[in-house]
Amino acid sequence: LPDGLARTPPMGFNNWNSTHCRAEFDHEMVKGIADIFVERGLKDAGYEYVNLDDCWALPERDANGKLVPDPVRFPDGIKAVADYVHAKGLKIGIYTSAGTKTCNPAGFPGALGHEESDAMQFAEWGIDYLKYDNCNNQGVDAVQRYTRMRDALRAASETTGRPIVYSICEWGQNEPWEWAADVGHLWRTTGDISDNWSSMLGIMKQNLPLAEYAGPGHWNDPDMLEVGNGGMTDTEYRTHFSMWSIMAAPLLIGSDLRTADEATFEILGNEEVIAVDQDPLGRQGAVVSADDGRWVVAKEMADGSRAVALFNESTAPQRISTTAEAVGLPAADGYRMRDLWRHEDFNTGGGISATVPGHGTVLYRLWPGAGAGSYPPAAEFGA
Ligand code: DGJ
Repeated sequence: LPDGLARTPPMGFNNWNSTHCRAEFDHEMVKGIADIFVERGLKDAGYEYVNLDDCWALPERDANGKLVPDPVRFPDGIKAVADYVHAKGLKIGIYTSAGTKTCNPAGFPGALGHEESDAMQFAEWGIDYLKYDNCNNQGVDAVQRYTRMRDALRAASETTGRPIVYSICEWGQNEPWEWAADVGHLWRTTGDISDNWSSMLGIMKQNLPLAEYAGPGHWNDPDMLEVGNGGMTDTEYRTHFSMWSIMAAPLLIGSDLRTADEATFEILGNEEVIAVDQDPLGRQGAVVSADDGRWVVAKEMADGSRAVALFNESTAPQRISTTAEAVGLPAADGYRMRDLWRHEDFNTGGGISATVPGHGTVLYRLWPGAGAGSYPPAAEFGA
């Protein structure tokens, strides 16, 4: 949406990937994540939204048709949790479906036919972000359903003065990249991610060709992060985080940071990688080449530099190579090349290469003009 919101991809947390609807999704979790964002420097790194997914409400509306927070999960209501999150200088998001019920079989209420009053209720609670799902949509046209909530959110936030980021979650079914730039700030391009290599890889491959549709205020959303949930290796999670960043994807942490290990914090907190995602030019990186599982993806940055991902889809180490010219850099005598995971600088005359471990990604950023460091790079990452 061209309204000044989400000029860079949203960053934050959502409980779904770690808890689904299990009981640990509650007010203690939401407040605990907000605490950790501040204490562990993630807020300073850019993480801002703490988002609630499905199963926060009771199955029945009250006598006035209002949504009722589950009193076991949220004994003080949603407003109290929102106040807590806001007091930390953070923002809060909520979830419902553009249907009669949400996706969970327990049958929580959806907003179809209740768009204006539900949007107003969210705004009164102080909600800053809505994820709007697609279950039980009764076959009503998607553009119509998602546009009606856009207008309801706009009207509600005009009343309260609090803008609301609008996340369209119709799983890429109706090619939202063709119509949603004027409806929401981001749209899911795929079905749900799960915490394993083939799911993450499949989603990445679906999202990569959509680069031209993304930009400030209108992002492709290849779903939330699984980093830290345990189903992939740290090398694979670095690939996940590198590729989501070079695709300018929303960075919504999906693991329970209250029990996360240090490797998880190190990946999610890598500010040089985050800077690739959050670059103000707002380009989504595009595929330069993909031969035998040797992927080169390049993203133009606002300062004229390029982020370059060398991603090895295969299980064995491979040498992956490209050039400054191929990734769109102007001709120069030399380039400064920075390894964003090793945090080291090199010089190159124009060759860009590394031996990349199986399922690994080497992420570089290059600027025309030589800088400090050695040439050629010793770029063996994690090998
Ligand atoms: C489907 C969505 O795609 C998921 O991200 C999650 O929100 C679930 N629904 C919740 O039921």
